[in-house]
Amino acid sequence: MDRNELYIKGPQRMQGELLIQGSKNAALPILAATILGEGIFILHHCPKISDVEHMLELLVDAGCRAYWEGHMLIVDTRELRNYRVKGDGAGKMRSTVTLLGSILGRMHQVEIPYPGGCTIGKRPIDLHLRGLEQLGAVFEHQEHTLVGKAAILHGASVYLDFPSVGATENVLLAAVLAEGSTVIHGAAMEPEIVELASFLRKMGAKILGEGTPVISIEGVKRLHAAEYIVPSDRIVAGTYLFGALMTRGEVRLLHVPLAHLGNLPGVLEQMGAVVEAKEDWIYVRMDHQCRPIPYLVTAPFPGFPTDLQSALMAALSTASGISFIEEKIFEARFQVVEELQKMGASITSEESFALIDGDARLRGAKVEAKELRGGAALIMAALAAEGETCIQGMEYVCRGYEDINEDLKKLGIKKRCGEQGCCPKTAFTEETHVRTGNNEEVS
Ligand code: EPZ
Repeated sequence: MDRNELYIKGPQRMQGELLIQGSKNAALPILAATILGEGIFILHHCPKISDVEHMLELLVDAGCRAYWEGHMLIVDTRELRNYRVKGDGAGKMRSTVTLLGSILGRMHQVEIPYPGGCTIGKRPIDLHLRGLEQLGAVFEHQEHTLVGKAAILHGASVYLDFPSVGATENVLLAAVLAEGSTVIHGAAMEPEIVELASFLRKMGAKILGEGTPVISIEGVKRLHAAEYIVPSDRIVAGTYLFGALMTRGEVRLLHVPLAHLGNLPGVLEQMGAVVEAKEDWIYVRMDHQCRPIPYLVTAPFPGFPTDLQSALMAALSTASGISFIEEKIFEARFQVVEELQKMGASITSEESFALIDGDARLRGAKVEAKELRGGAALIMAALAAEGETCIQGMEYVCRGYEDINEDLKKLGIKKRCGEQGCCPKTAFTEETHVRTGNNEEVS
């Protein structure tokens, strides 16, 4: 397969100001939520990434129309009629899961390709299904397809054994049109849950308590379209902040809601950075080598996010001493270790623990992105490495980073793309076009 490649000759110092793109993990459930309302939705600051494109393909297959005007995404759900979501090959199926609750909520039946796992773990959906069953859904597991039916969706007290982001989203999406009241106990508190709830409230839903472990929903009869601004991506922001630390750089990131960063500013300060932050911007400067972190564990929000664990590991590879990371969210999120080792990092990982012996002088190498966040961490490591690094597998990075090429340029970084370019060609790189329900393209 032709690989998308990025070449970076280090060391380089990250310096500059950047407005952060819209959030992948806020945009996907918000797009799923549009299915619950009839009308024309306007979503501002929507990230133009392949995961969003895949979600749009699914919405269009279901009968919606969707088109872009710059970063404004218009979604028309008035012709929605199809509850069968088409499969599309491994790797993209994760975003299919977020459609379960909304298609059930709107159409009371759903068929989706069985969501596979991915490289960071098995990604089971038992909590999703158990929560939806408590609202009245019945699921049949066919060979490759999950079939759900709910003659009536009724309110219930749902207890999540783990504050799963996706399961919280799916139960929320199915509860807003259910008959009666639902209370989700043990709900995820991630910013993406808060954003989804406020979007649903703009559609007419009755929700209280998002951002706490207990969310209460009063079912309503109908929901209408809404206009919304997708928040900036806290993980993209955090990735570049670790890049600034590793390159003793200085960056100011704009349009980043401070409340979404959880304990990240504290971790950056613990590593010796100068950090200033206000409502929607954060400034970070690093004047010396990063300090190590004796122990850090990834945890549900507001703990340290698993999605930044790889970028933290890359930064700690250049720190002055030994650090220890425990990954408690996903069972296979150390794939980037062997790639960082190719660059000279001294890391030992065992099950969910990684020991990083800093003071490594990273050197350029040919490395491979095996998943989204590990790939982004390799790009940050390349900035600090001596010599040229080739990062293969940039198609993974483009799932979540809208235009890392442009972002790095604005942050003062010189780089070049391989023959196949840095990111796969997608519909966004073609001209804006309107898709009809039968997926014709009408430009
Ligand atoms: C969301 O995934 C994010 N994805 C992930 O970001 C993020 O890492 C994760 O939340 C944790 O914050 C999107 O929002 C699209 P979970 P999700 O359900 O919902 C287990 C990225 O890089 N679990 O909170 O799938 C699961 O196996 C991606 O942007 C069950 O056991 O995460 C995992 O160990 C990666 N049963 C843990 O819970 C279930 O039914 C957390 O999963 C569901 C989850």
